[in-house]
Amino acid sequence: MAVDPQDRCGDVAGCGFLISGIIHLSNSPVERPPDLWDQGCATDEIRNQFVIPAIIEVASANDPDSIIDIGCGSGYIAREVEAGGIAKGVAWRLLDYSTDMLSFARSRCTDIERTAFIRHDLRVEPRDIPKSILGYVAYTFLDFLLDETIALHVSDLIMEGGTLLVFLPDVLEDVIEAAGQDPAVLDEYRSGHCSLAKRDKFTSKNVLFEANRVENVIQLFLGAGLVLTHLRTHRSAKGKFHYMLSFRALSV
Ligand SMILES: C[S@@+](CC[C@H](N)C(=O)[O-])C[C@H]1O[C@@H](n2cnc3c(N)ncnc32)[C@H](O)[C@@H]1O
Repeated sequence: MAVDPQDRCGDVAGCGFLISGIIHLSNSPVERPPDLWDQGCATDEIRNQFVIPAIIEVASANDPDSIIDIGCGSGYIAREVEAGGIAKGVAWRLLDYSTDMLSFARSRCTDIERTAFIRHDLRVEPRDIPKSILGYVAYTFLDFLLDETIALHVSDLIMEGGTLLVFLPDVLEDVIEAAGQDPAVLDEYRSGHCSLAKRDKFTSKNVLFEANRVENVIQLFLGAGLVLTHLRTHRSAKGKFHYMLSFRALSV
């Protein structure tokens, strides 16, 4: 069932519940218990075998003095990247708009020195947030509609000459499955994006997730002034593809 994102005016994260085929939209953020999310991450093949090793590889090659995790959730990825042996003394910034996620992350990230926990909604211009030389966004764009403005806000968190890594799944199979019920979904996806109802595998909650074509995400960040330098693909044990897009913020 396709959902017009505009129907969700004022909906911060786009939370929907699928009950007997009817999507009930809520004005509250996605209900995602941080402890369940963290437990899910701990056994997640994609984060542990693709996302975290890729960030460690980029961080080891660039020796950043600041790293921002954009939409950090429970802080699992940041903790594992830090534990993975990158140089000590990095100024870490963990950004999320959920106070629950940030408090959980704060309680678990006690081993990371120099960590700032930043409550910020990416739909708002990041005025007072220091720019970082390396930033990553892992699956955060599943939660809300990525557009030109948000791409600019995310790019603004990265220093000139810095790197932004964007991790996202290939949603084609989900789109094809949803199109079986509502063929309009396919047309929306063709034009760049559609919204799909799906069970969250970590929390078992039914949520709406924003399914972006990879080309759409690339185009939005190019439009925000970044340059695509690398695209890495990972095929999960279940045969699903995931991508890491690597962008560079050019020096002006
Ligand atoms: C799918 S989770 C991913 C969490 C983490 N990056 C990971 O991969 O485990 C998305 C995260 O983005 C946060 N988020 C959603 N909408 C946001 C917004 N508008 N501004 C900031 N954070 C947001 C959510 O609270 C959640 O923690």
